[in-house]
Amino acid sequence: MQLNHVILENFRNYSAEEFVFDPKVNLVCGENAQGKTNLLEACALLSTMKLFRTGQKKEGLAFGQENGRVFGEFQAEGQPFTLEVRLHASKAMEVFRAGARLRRQSEGQGLLKTVLFCPDDLYLIRAGAASRRKFLDTALCQLRPNYGRYLDEYNRVLEHKTRILRDSEEHPGLLDLYDDFSLRLARLGANLVRYRARYLRKLHETAALLHREIAPSETLSLEYATIPQNPFGSVQEVENELLDHLYRHKNAEIASRSCLSGCHKDDILIEINGSPASRFGSQGQVRTCALVLKLSERELMNEDCGEYPVLLLDDVLSELDRRRQDFVLNHIGMGQILITCCEEEMAAKLAAGRVFHIAGGRVV
Ligand SMILES: Nc1ncnc2c1ncn2[C@@H]1O[C@H](COP(=O)(O)OP(=O)(O)OP(=O)(O)O)[C@@H](O)[C@H]1O
Ligand SMILES: [Mg+2]
Repeated sequence: MQLNHVILENFRNYSAEEFVFDPKVNLVCGENAQGKTNLLEACALLSTMKLFRTGQKKEGLAFGQENGRVFGEFQAEGQPFTLEVRLHASKAMEVFRAGARLRRQSEGQGLLKTVLFCPDDLYLIRAGAASRRKFLDTALCQLRPNYGRYLDEYNRVLEHKTRILRDSEEHPGLLDLYDDFSLRLARLGANLVRYRARYLRKLHETAALLHREIAPSETLSLEYATIPQNPFGSVQEVENELLDHLYRHKNAEIASRSCLSGCHKDDILIEINGSPASRFGSQGQVRTCALVLKLSERELMNEDCGEYPVLLLDDVLSELDRRRQDFVLNHIGMGQILITCCEEEMAAKLAAGRVFHIAGGRVV
């Protein structure tokens, strides 16, 4: 996987800028608030069709502008690709592949594969379940195009069902729709659950091995926390378990006017030596776990696609002690890297291929 060329126009603090990347290591340096993270966000957008700092895609548009774009040219499995994401103030984002507009944004997901690693990820273990679901979803949307479609549809139906429940006090007739929406959620959810279960089984194997390297006296284990007893069952079996759970919580959902049951509540249970890391892990242990999860995500993409994803490292090394820095650096030798930092000393450790100095949304 190799990102060769990126053009930004009216994207965040860039009015017009162009980047030609080195196939190996690219160092993006500059003072605070100059546009380093914005550049990585644009690269990640080409891969995930999302902005990693916000759910509002319009926020990517430079202040006061009507239209903006992120263009990228890359190589995946030996094939050349071009993708362009156009942001508009007055309508939804559009995605073009080789100049042709895609019908759905999700069709643009995962052609360019990336793994982003930023300081927030170091809180992955202690943060709420939502951030671990986002971790899973981001990886799976890139690996399995169908997953992204199911997820978009699930979120749409979930939003609709939430509105039904919320408005049901004023309009009790809306509850006639409850069963239909629950059925649709269970069906879509069953597909998501099965993908997640299989991904987590592989992630567990890879993460346990990597973890043993950095902490030989500890055992890391990952377990999928979801509703079905057997998330590996057939779609029908998983759907039945989800539906069963939903109907047992129907009264509670109507009383609380919110969607309490479904795979939008899933989580990853992370244990070190048999105890939940989120509650009993030390600072160092939870950081190490987070590193291991992100590096494992990268390894699994390589296993699945036969090539490493582009690694986007945003300021994360400066947050780590020497030992953990070395651990990360030892595992990222393969594949292309874009790494941001304020000090250039990190460059020496990576033998940078190309260095970009950023100031005020320009390469200087
Ligand atoms: N939509 C936008 N339009 C214009 N400017 C924006 C927009 N969104 C963010 N910015 C500005 O972009 C600037 C640079 O942000 P960025 O996060 O890329 O900085 P950075 O170089 O990574 O800095 P740091 O080293 O502090 O992480 C910020 O000053 C922010 O106000
Ligand atoms: Mg930054």
